[in-house]
Amino acid sequence: MSDSRFHLDEWKIIETRFEPDRARDSESIFALGNGMMGQRANFEETYSGDTLRGNYVAGVYYPDKTVVGWWKIGYPEYFAKVPNAPSWTNIIVRIDGEELDLAICSLRSFRRELDMKQGLLTRTFEAVMPSGKVAKVTAKRFLSMAQPELAASSYSVQITGGNGKIELIPWLNADVYNEDANYDEKFWENESSTHDGKRAVVVAQTRKTAFVVATALENTFVLNGMPARGKTAITTTGKTASCKFSSDYSDGDTFTVTGYAAVLSSFNHPVEGLAGKALVSAGKAAEKGFDAMLEAHRDAWGKKWEHGDIVIRGDIAAQQGIRFNIFQLYQTYTGEDPRLNIGPKGFTGEKYGGSTYWDTEAFAFPFYLSTADTHVARNLLLYRYKHLEKAIENARKLGFTGGAALYPMVTMNGEECHNEWEITFEEIHRNGAIAYAIFNYVRHTGDNDYLSEYGLEVLVALSRFWAQRCNWSDERKKYVILGVTGPNEYENNVNNNWYTNTLARWTLKYTSDMLEWLRNASNVKYNSVVARTRLDTQSELKHWKEIIENIHLPANHDPGIFLQQDGFMDKIQHTVSDLDPAERPLNQHWSWDRILRSVFIKQADVLQGIYFFEDEFDEDTIRRNFDFYEPRCVHESSLSASIHSVLAARLHDTERAYTLYLRTARLDLDDYNREVKDGLHITSMAGTWLAIVEGFGGMRIRNERICFNPVIPAAWESYSFIIRYRNNPLRVEVNGGTVTAVNLSRAEIPLAVFGEQVNMQPGEEKKFRKQ
Ligand code: BGC
Repeated sequence: MSDSRFHLDEWKIIETRFEPDRARDSESIFALGNGMMGQRANFEETYSGDTLRGNYVAGVYYPDKTVVGWWKIGYPEYFAKVPNAPSWTNIIVRIDGEELDLAICSLRSFRRELDMKQGLLTRTFEAVMPSGKVAKVTAKRFLSMAQPELAASSYSVQITGGNGKIELIPWLNADVYNEDANYDEKFWENESSTHDGKRAVVVAQTRKTAFVVATALENTFVLNGMPARGKTAITTTGKTASCKFSSDYSDGDTFTVTGYAAVLSSFNHPVEGLAGKALVSAGKAAEKGFDAMLEAHRDAWGKKWEHGDIVIRGDIAAQQGIRFNIFQLYQTYTGEDPRLNIGPKGFTGEKYGGSTYWDTEAFAFPFYLSTADTHVARNLLLYRYKHLEKAIENARKLGFTGGAALYPMVTMNGEECHNEWEITFEEIHRNGAIAYAIFNYVRHTGDNDYLSEYGLEVLVALSRFWAQRCNWSDERKKYVILGVTGPNEYENNVNNNWYTNTLARWTLKYTSDMLEWLRNASNVKYNSVVARTRLDTQSELKHWKEIIENIHLPANHDPGIFLQQDGFMDKIQHTVSDLDPAERPLNQHWSWDRILRSVFIKQADVLQGIYFFEDEFDEDTIRRNFDFYEPRCVHESSLSASIHSVLAARLHDTERAYTLYLRTARLDLDDYNREVKDGLHITSMAGTWLAIVEGFGGMRIRNERICFNPVIPAAWESYSFIIRYRNNPLRVEVNGGTVTAVNLSRAEIPLAVFGEQVNMQPGEEKKFRKQ
């Protein structure tokens, strides 16, 4: 099924050949992260070939000035970038004066292995030096999941072919840059380095934003398992710090450098004393030792897998694919800090700048909601809550008043920060996804207090935005929303995008309903929300009601579909099967003008709305829309196929769902889009999870009950996953036509499988069969 470059293995990603022209691809695939920092899988030893060096620190960003041809009022000032940060993994290996460099030395063997169960990257190779000596290297490293500011690496070199001299020079490098800088600027300044005799530290500060990052490293050197007796000397040069070890070697000797790194940033610590703190942390890590650190790291990963794993039997490529996706999602976001979020490429590359998009609420949120403790999803909501004032300010800049909020399409700190106006800025539908996530959170967790404490403030501000963004059309005698971009970015500045209008109406209704619910539940809390939002409970709610009842939702009666936007049927109604495969992807072959005029849809748009509000439509309506839009969708966003897959499964078309699922499951591993070199598609990885759990598993939350209606792809023997409902874990296994549910919690779980309702008692196991 898969002609992957990587060996098929349930828990590991394995590469056994070094392909220099795909070096960047592998640097992305083997990337490591722990929520606090991340790095591409750059080689430790010097590599003079093509590479994208990448180390990233969560929360640290640089406001790169936007590139805009014709500046207009309201345009964002900057495009936030996550700066490539000082690196600590570098080691110069010099054997008899020759530097080990895989672009120069010839390779006898090469193997790289990412063990996803324990979050450990291992690389082994045998290289022949120009002198003919052979260096056999084993390099291991991990970014601690247990202590996320710490990391460790172990690098062993065995030399054969005679005696000689070796130098091992681990070094810290703050002289780093971003390839994607808009104006070739350096993002760092005030670099400095120092050492305390045992360990070194480099400190660098981002320009403009003045984030300070201190990266400290302690090294130990071992010869054949015993502390090595060679000479060590630490040198600092301002932007770098190195620790040089030199020794004679005899044929067959093995030297091991172990590095203990601490990466501390002013995002989490006061600037004063940061370098000293980093030195102390690196020292403590060294005291603990590589093995003890690895054990704690492995345990932390064990806990994540215990509840987040999906097991697929009978299809090893699918198993590897979904584990890779889950692994990357956990590497990107751990949910402990409400100031952090999930960048579309996580910590695996520079593209998308590590910023937050609607991807979080629309795609990634359900994964964390279902596989992690409730506080993780809550922190994702709090992230937006904390940005509410800025979202109100953002709306004010565009002419909205009275506490209306427009969240940014792309953000780091709550401010809009993207280059492109029409595409991203007009995608006001993001406001709807944020409201939908609040609804999703509350129905899933039962944490109603979230609404009165935080959620309703956001919902009121969003509703105010929609109420002002609509206008009454005398012509249609309806409210309309003009000049937007829907999720389909292959059309800009359209009128009455069905998805956007539907979300606007739904947000107004949900906000009104939740206000009413709170008024009945607690007058005190209701009054507090009204006071905090200065809501005019008469006129504002009345206006919202009028919009809810009278908003234009474009539809076409002949095929009986919702129209993506006004005028969609004027387009020449081609389908994807009419396209020449050589012209795909369209965005690399067609002019923008041609794309905008064409019927082809970049990603789920109407279908995204049907996915969100499925229960509002009967099956025939869902089918008619699916049958109309799926043949017109080119899925040129990685986010798209998973939503179509969920809907195909809903329509009982398991094989179509499976075909669509395959497009997302191994997107990066098999590099379908030929762009993995830039980084991984982290947010679309969550879509793959949706395709399994909500698609094949048919999971829905309805009437305070968790429901499943599973199907199984023909290629699979069984699959199973654990879902937290109301924070109580429930295991679901689908094996042929039998579903086994086990309540792993200490509380009752209201469940329905194939429509059969049961209240599962703690520890209870029950089998269900489709009647
Ligand atoms: C998609 C957007 C998405 C962005 C970041 C674009 O290609 O069309 O919907 O927000 O990528 O993932």
